[in-house]
Amino acid sequence: MKPSLVAPLLLSIFMSASALAGGAWESMSPEAIGGVLDKKFAEGRYSKKGADTCLACHKRSEKVLTIFSTPHGNAANDKSPMGSLQCEACHGPIGKHNRGGKEPMIAFGEGSPLTAENQNSVCMSCHQDEPRMSWHSSLHNLEEVACADCHQIHSEQDPVLSKDTQVEVCTSCHTREQSDLKKRSHHPLDWDGMTCTSCHSAHGSMNEASLKQATVNENCYECHTDKRSVYLVEHQPVIDNCSNCHDPHGSVNDNLLIRRAPQLCQSCHASPHSGTALLGSGNSTMTSGQSCLNCHSQIHGSHNPVYDKYTPPLSR
Ligand code: HEC
Ligand code: HEC
Ligand code: HEC
Ligand code: HEC
Ligand code: HEC
Ligand code: HEC
Ligand code: HEC
Ligand code: HEC
Ligand code: HEC
Ligand code: HEC
Repeated sequence: MKPSLVAPLLLSIFMSASALAGGAWESMSPEAIGGVLDKKFAEGRYSKKGADTCLACHKRSEKVLTIFSTPHGNAANDKSPMGSLQCEACHGPIGKHNRGGKEPMIAFGEGSPLTAENQNSVCMSCHQDEPRMSWHSSLHNLEEVACADCHQIHSEQDPVLSKDTQVEVCTSCHTREQSDLKKRSHHPLDWDGMTCTSCHSAHGSMNEASLKQATVNENCYECHTDKRSVYLVEHQPVIDNCSNCHDPHGSVNDNLLIRRAPQLCQSCHASPHSGTALLGSGNSTMTSGQSCLNCHSQIHGSHNPVYDKYTPPLSR
């Protein structure tokens, strides 16, 4: 069965002209549609001419035709839909759908009456493989996000697969991260080839927040290798979790900091220096923006045990 894009029979054109007015199932409840689709699957009445049958009515849609410029439209690959049941590998057996549009087909995406789970089971029948090993336990699956909410199948370039457009797809739902990315300090997702999936696995992972790495710190070390170096004198919250002080997505403060010093420091060190003002420090150091960092400048840890913790600039 090879799909051909030659002109269909005139008859079909007439049929489609009237049939494409709208599906008879538009007034059916999702449950009723589910019932019909189950029945169609059980009967398994696939069309004899595959895609050609469908295109008799649907070839006027540019969008439908783009599938032939994608891996799913590659008839030479027998694992691809077009190499087997063609359109019906995804949309299910035609049944009586072509009789004036009497029966619904499996539909995907936003307007679909089917649950995300039902839609996804179609995709997973071919894509239950390593990259989707954690899909079932992922928050996307549990919160009923459909594969087709992220992926556009009838599109020459699926936007979520391109570095240039992926962030747009993700932030269409993740509005908080979208606004974080507009803050003064943010990771350079607008250039440099960095995307959400530089850090996250879209199909889920065994790790917190679906990170690609085992922990938040491992994630940060991936690119900020200098922070991995084992300090002789360690600052406990740094070892514990970088997000004790940084927001990975963006912040109104410099350096992605969740708060500015001294408030940041004081959120844990309520009254350092035994609550007394530092001798000779005056007020200037504390009011000059950097505050605690003027003296405790090696905040991630120090390689020099001779000095006080995080205070290399002080003469002793
Ligand atoms: C005789 C004409 C005809 C044929 C042949 C036909 N369809 Fe349809 N199809 C329709 C009509 C009419 C609609 C409803 C109007 C619309 O949504 O475009 C429709 C709608 C659809 C929808 C959208 C369903 C929804 O609920 O939004 C899908 C998907 C679909 N068809 C797939 C197929 C596939 C796959 C084939 C081949 C196996 C096929 N069609 C063959 C006429 C046809
Ligand atoms: C790999 C699975 C897959 C295959 C194969 C496939 N489709 Fe689709 N189809 C989808 C998904 C998913 C959507 C929802 C829109 C999107 O993702 O682009 C869709 C949407 C549609 C729609 C609704 C279009 C609209 O304007 O909303 C029609 C009609 C349709 N497909 C017909 C076909 C026909 C005809 C074929 C064969 C030539 C086909 N599809 C092959 C997955 C598939
Ligand atoms: C009949 C089997 C089959 C079904 C059903 C199927 N796919 Fe695929 N899909 C494939 C094959 C084969 C490839 C090509 C893999 C390759 O080239 O390594 C592919 C490739 C892809 C790709 C990569 C496309 C690219 O441009 O690289 C995505 C994304 C994808 N599928 C998503 C889906 C989604 C979402 C669904 C359900 C709506 C779906 N697939 C249904 C077989 C299938
Ligand atoms: C949250 C958005 C999102 C959802 C939901 C999603 N994907 Fe993906 N998918 C992506 C992104 C992004 C990529 C690009 C590769 C990457 O960065 O992991 C991708 C890549 C793919 C690929 C090609 C590369 C590979 O991993 O094999 C396939 C196939 C695929 N997805 C199938 C699916 C299927 C099947 C589902 C539903 C079970 C699904 N995707 C759900 C975002 C998503
Ligand atoms: C530089 C790495 C990085 C990038 C890039 C990134 N994230 Fe994250 N994201 C993280 C880390 C680390 C966490 C866990 C934060 C924590 O534990 O405080 C997280 C958490 C999340 C969470 C869960 C939030 C919560 O409150 O539970 C969502 C949703 C999220 N990210 C979405 C996105 C989206 C969407 C993008 C792209 C616009 C993105 N992320 C880009 C590192 C990143
Ligand atoms: C259709 C809407 C939608 C799209 C598109 C989407 N997400 Fe999500 N995502 C959700 C929902 C819903 C949740 C679960 C609760 C929440 O955070 O709102 C979630 C959760 C997450 C989480 C937290 C996971 C965890 O285990 O804590 C991350 C990370 C995430 N998404 C990343 C992404 C990335 C990366 C993309 C783009 C490739 C993306 N999302 C696209 C809806 C979406
Ligand atoms: C995929 C690579 C990558 C990962 C993972 C990553 N970063 Fe970054 N980070 C960058 C790049 C690129 C920049 C901007 C260039 C620069 O200043 O080095 C940056 C900048 C920063 C900055 C300075 C921001 C500013 O406004 O100047 C901080 C702070 C930071 N990252 C913290 C983190 C933390 C914390 C994590 C882990 C949650 C993390 N990064 C994970 C690549 C990454
Ligand atoms: C106790 C709070 C705190 C923790 C925890 C923390 N940082 Fe920072 N980080 C800061 C402060 C404060 C600055 C800005 C101070 C400066 O100018 O050195 C900063 C700056 C940075 C910068 C930009 C300047 C530079 O040094 O390159 C990066 C990157 C960075 N941190 C990465 C990390 C990583 C990775 C982790 C986890 C291993 C981490 N931080 C944990 C407080 C913290
Ligand atoms: C999330 C909590 C937290 C934050 C935020 C934090 N620290 Fe710490 N800090 C600790 C903990 C825990 C220790 C180790 C336990 C101790 O000795 O108090 C420590 C130790 C220190 C020490 C060494 C104390 C000693 O005698 O061992 C200094 C100096 C210090 N922090 C300065 C700062 C500065 C400056 C900031 C702000 C940039 C800051 N800390 C932010 C939790 C935090
Ligand atoms: C003028 C320089 C200077 C400034 C500014 C400064 N410190 Fe210190 N800090 C020191 C020195 C020096 C020590 C060591 C004192 C000692 O050994 O008794 C110290 C010790 C500490 C200690 C460990 C001993 C203790 O008393 O808990 C903490 C925690 C600390 N500083 C936090 C902070 C915080 C938080 C700020 C900002 C609110 C800050 N420091 C501002 C110089 C400074």
